[in-house]
Amino acid sequence: MTEGDRHATPAPRSTDAMTAPRPAGIPVTVRAPAKVNVQLAVGGLRPDGFHDLANVFLAVGLYDVVSAAEADALSVTCSGRDADAVPLDSSNLAVRAARALAAHHGLAVPGVRLHIDKDIPVAGGMAGGSADAAGALLACDRLWGLDTPRGELLGICAELGSDVPFSLVGGAALGRGRGERLTELEVGGTFHWVFAVADGGLSTPAVYRECDRLRGGAAVAEPEASPGVVAALGKGDAHALAAVLANDLQEAAVSLRPALADTLAAGVDAGALAGLVSGSGPTCAFLVPDAGSADRVADALRASGVCRAARTASSPAPGATFL
Ligand code: C5P
Repeated sequence: MTEGDRHATPAPRSTDAMTAPRPAGIPVTVRAPAKVNVQLAVGGLRPDGFHDLANVFLAVGLYDVVSAAEADALSVTCSGRDADAVPLDSSNLAVRAARALAAHHGLAVPGVRLHIDKDIPVAGGMAGGSADAAGALLACDRLWGLDTPRGELLGICAELGSDVPFSLVGGAALGRGRGERLTELEVGGTFHWVFAVADGGLSTPAVYRECDRLRGGAAVAEPEASPGVVAALGKGDAHALAAVLANDLQEAAVSLRPALADTLAAGVDAGALAGLVSGSGPTCAFLVPDAGSADRVADALRASGVCRAARTASSPAPGATFL
């Protein structure tokens, strides 16, 4: 995508806000992680169209890498797995992040060349788009020497999407509100995962609508963080976490994509401690005891034909980080 509406790179907000000088022409590169929701409790539909959540995010070590380079026009390109599935128009979340950062500082739409090297499944319920937004935000912030305070960056993230603040902070956190109000959580050890990537994505709004439809207008309790989930994360205890993994969107995702029931069964049959749909799906996440089991379960899932690809990764992972 190339846009001709504004080409000059904005000036820094102030000289004392500038970071160390960077040689001209060198892009800024940021790595941002995927996530899995180890608990996703969904409340009732709000008047603004969102749902109140108790959303326990855990960052996993699958990453998109976003770079930002000086250019005359705003453009975005994408490489890597599933690059063809990424929109390169103004709906692209990295583009939206660059524009939002400029707008936050009262700057015109900047010239910047964004590139996304994609490794996180697209539309898979793993916050790949959110990772690109958080990555682009940090990269442009440094490229333009803005040095935006962390709290302001988190505010811009929340405007871009409910999961974007978590992509910036990583680790583990409880997300309240629509998922954007974060409280950091302790993680006492390494968790090992296998992700069964489905063919094609699922639309997040469609999955929330299906959740509402399945509830049939019944009263919905206020979503609360599960003490068992928080304790298991804190202890780094995979067996305890496996027993309490919970996703209120799972039934809706399986209702829209019934084959996910077979994927979930195949992972557990292959030796996973537990499986669940990741966020709004359709990626299924399997918690396993160790790295060796992760490789075995991934091989079994690939052989069973229930998924397009199986990936292994561990948690926690850091949030968006400069490379
Ligand atoms: O915030 P984000 O852009 O990720 O949300 C995408 C869509 O998912 C929203 O438009 C809404 O339909 C749904 N959603 C929701 N409640 C949330 C988060 C997202 O209903 N807490």
